[in-house]
Amino acid sequence: MTVPEGTAPATGAAGPGAAPGTPARRAPAPVRDDGGAGVSPGPPAGPATPQRADGVAAFEAVDLARSYRLEGVTVDALRGVSLRIEPGEFVAIVGPSGSGKSTLMHLLGCLDRPTAGTLRVNGVDVSTLDDGGLAELRNRVVGFVFQSFHLLGRTSALDNVALPLVYRGVGRAERRERARAALEAVGLAHRLDHRPSQMSGGEQQRVAIARALVGDPKVVLADEPTGNLDTRNGEEVMGILSRLNADAGVAVVLVTHEPEVAGRARRRINVRDGRVDADTGEPR
Ligand SMILES: Nc1ncnc2c1ncn2[C@@H]1O[C@H](COP(=O)(O)OP(=O)(O)OP(=O)(O)O)[C@@H](O)[C@H]1O
Ligand SMILES: [Mg+2]
Repeated sequence: MTVPEGTAPATGAAGPGAAPGTPARRAPAPVRDDGGAGVSPGPPAGPATPQRADGVAAFEAVDLARSYRLEGVTVDALRGVSLRIEPGEFVAIVGPSGSGKSTLMHLLGCLDRPTAGTLRVNGVDVSTLDDGGLAELRNRVVGFVFQSFHLLGRTSALDNVALPLVYRGVGRAERRERARAALEAVGLAHRLDHRPSQMSGGEQQRVAIARALVGDPKVVLADEPTGNLDTRNGEEVMGILSRLNADAGVAVVLVTHEPEVAGRARRRINVRDGRVDADTGEPR
């Protein structure tokens, strides 16, 4: 699946038509504390007890299916996935190429709609929403990070990160301040005016993470966030995501092919042929 560079969904933003206005918020959590050094692999991340206090799951999927029609042929990318992911969880989705991982992530991230089954995101059944409502839910709840960053190439890091806030109707001064804080939180305070082409891959992915965080999401969805990075940069990105989860309680759901990346998650969901074939389970 592809998402065109710079589209609103890729930013985790709602796009035009989203409800304007934004609630008061806290500053992005300081998720980076190593002063730029590599992050050594630590124990599996995540708060001690993912929150289930209000009983509202971050995601609740029942028999979720997604088929694509391509030149008269139907591809059943997802064939009935049921799962529940709580607020504050740290989940790795793993499985062979073509098994449906990205398809599932796009559904969870409200970038796409299921063709059958039920999906509740933060308690809201997505089938009850029109496109504007789906975009608004996405903008409010989810930050998305892609393997290939999906940054706007000719736009500064600061403006890339500020973009989701445009769709929320946040004023320019506040947008810039929040984008600056988010970039600082991922260790890029010194790169605000650089364009993606003037940054390393690791830096670009940190910009993408800052963009995912600037809207203060409840969940960060990351589809192979370290797939285009070398080991050191991959560890740095994982360190940021782990601290975001452990310190700020943001749920993290990531797709990876790398066992050491999956090993940082508290829960692992295996997808095969469009189905969940193993799930280490929700924490009790
Ligand atoms: N837009 C689309 N149109 C038609 N078929 C698609 C589309 N997107 C994905 N598919 C098909 O759906 C199946 C699942 O694709 P998906 O991208 O979810 O796999 P994946 O598990 O993420 O694989 P990878 O590990 O290679 O990224 C594949 O067979 C793929 O070819
Ligand atoms: Mg994929």
